[in-house]
Amino acid sequence: MMTANEIRESFKQFFEGKGHKIEASAPMVIKDDPTLMFTNAGMNQWKDIILGTRDPEPRRRADSQKCLRVSGKHNDLEEVGHDTYHHTMFEMLGNWSFGDYFKREAIDYAWEYLVDVLHLNPQDIYVTVFEGSEEEGIARDDEAAEYWSKHLPADHIINGNKHDNFWEMGETGPCGPCSEIHLDSRSAKEKAEVPGASLVNKDNPQVIEIWNIVFMQFNRKSDGSLQPLPMHVIDTGMGFERLVRSLQGKTSNY
Ligand code: SER
Repeated sequence: MMTANEIRESFKQFFEGKGHKIEASAPMVIKDDPTLMFTNAGMNQWKDIILGTRDPEPRRRADSQKCLRVSGKHNDLEEVGHDTYHHTMFEMLGNWSFGDYFKREAIDYAWEYLVDVLHLNPQDIYVTVFEGSEEEGIARDDEAAEYWSKHLPADHIINGNKHDNFWEMGETGPCGPCSEIHLDSRSAKEKAEVPGASLVNKDNPQVIEIWNIVFMQFNRKSDGSLQPLPMHVIDTGMGFERLVRSLQGKTSNY
């Protein structure tokens, strides 16, 4: 069985092998961004790059970022102690592309890492894609669904709404449609009785999101409008403790 340290290392090695520079975790207290008090996602330290005001080179990077979700848009304080998979402080494994690869490679890399490297069973994997939003003027993410369909049957690819499948850093800032990867770790008997697809995003303690792949395409302005970003960005975040727990065959992060 892989230890937590070995799992973190294998993530970094995998993305290094795909040409990513391995970066250090940024401090959890944010210094130069009045819109955010604590680091709530791996992408925070790259916000200026994503908005086009800082040099994007090298365009491929990966890290494990320490995050705190206790305030603002991403606040998990009330979840802790009530389920098996939320934390206030956690580590987020992430890979980025700043105007380099986009949806196809991001999906293929995630699949290769989970299935070929970590040997997760494809039958236990479900993914969600953004169903679109009339209000935002964005169509369903058919492109992401098509790339997933190379790896998964149609009943493992689920539409998700704006709440779950449109990720935003805060009230303003970088955002975009996303595709989440969920893992069904129930017993064989339970899986035979109730299909995992019906339990995705339904608070089942053994059917949990492990990885979010965000296709950053917009900057949310303070008037609520969406401004296209200067380049397409991949921002992924995998819950390190959730991944470790799943690979170690445990039923709770705790
Ligand atoms: N920013 C996204 C998240 O926090 C993916 O890294 O889920």
